[in-house]
Amino acid sequence: MKVTVVGAGNVGATCANVLAIREIASEVVLLDIKEGVSEGKAMDMMQTSPLLGFDTCVVGSTNDYAKTAGSAVVVITSGLPRKPGMTREELIGTNAGIVKTVAENILKHSPNAILIIVSNPMDTMTYLTLKATGLPKNRVIGMGGALDSSRFKYYLSQALGRPLTDVQGTVIGGHGDTTMIPLTRLATYNGVPVSQILDAAALEKVAADTMVGGATLTKLLGTSAWYAPGAAAAMLVESIVRDEKKVFPCCVSLEGEYGQKDICIGVPVVVGKNGCEEIIDYKLNAEEKDLFEKSAAAVRKMNQVLADMKVI
Ligand code: 2OP
Repeated sequence: MKVTVVGAGNVGATCANVLAIREIASEVVLLDIKEGVSEGKAMDMMQTSPLLGFDTCVVGSTNDYAKTAGSAVVVITSGLPRKPGMTREELIGTNAGIVKTVAENILKHSPNAILIIVSNPMDTMTYLTLKATGLPKNRVIGMGGALDSSRFKYYLSQALGRPLTDVQGTVIGGHGDTTMIPLTRLATYNGVPVSQILDAAALEKVAADTMVGGATLTKLLGTSAWYAPGAAAAMLVESIVRDEKKVFPCCVSLEGEYGQKDICIGVPVVVGKNGCEEIIDYKLNAEEKDLFEKSAAAVRKMNQVLADMKVI
């Protein structure tokens, strides 16, 4: 199976690398507009193959979409990353035009592809892709919740002093510092609600740290993070190409689920060969519903910028 990753920056290259090392696809095409960069990164990755023992073929392409033809899944990471102090939302003007053009070019060569959107502001870029391409809603998935949930598990494990893989937690809502909703009530340590182990103040700190998880890294690194974002996108690809039907919080189009319509926002999704196959209803309590409504309102406000800019 062929998978394309558009954007050979840190996130795209990390995603391609995870796809290769885990042999999630037989061929990975890495495409970028910068002359030679994707070819160089692809060649470098291929030279790890004898060392790491994988058979995935990684191919680079400088803006030649013909090379992406017949891709089953395409991950779009194109656009500017965040600089320290910047919100994801500030990227909208530049990234909207880029993401729209990329999606259109991709579909010319891979009309059946499932698109995974990583570019920020991710919820709005997912909505833009859905509207601009007219694709069915199951084929446009935004990667944000999988990443935010992984960060939530990280902070939970730190607070608990227990291994990350023994912790379960989900973040829904928008992929923004003030819009994401870490569901602390439903987080567990091996099936035990974490609220039975951590006090309210500790849980609040975990939630607050999770929400600014991306900004914390941007401050440390001087640019957006890439290991976890790249890995999160690759895990969505894996669930699609292997038809695993794993549940990831993803940004998808809602048509009444969670009380929302005409919006793409993070909810728990069964991810399989058809992309978004089912939206799971987590039965939010009143407080969580209120947070979700506020998050949706903020995402909707951002989507309005697309209309104001006449991008859709
Ligand atoms: C992050 O949260 C890149 O939005 C991404 O790190």
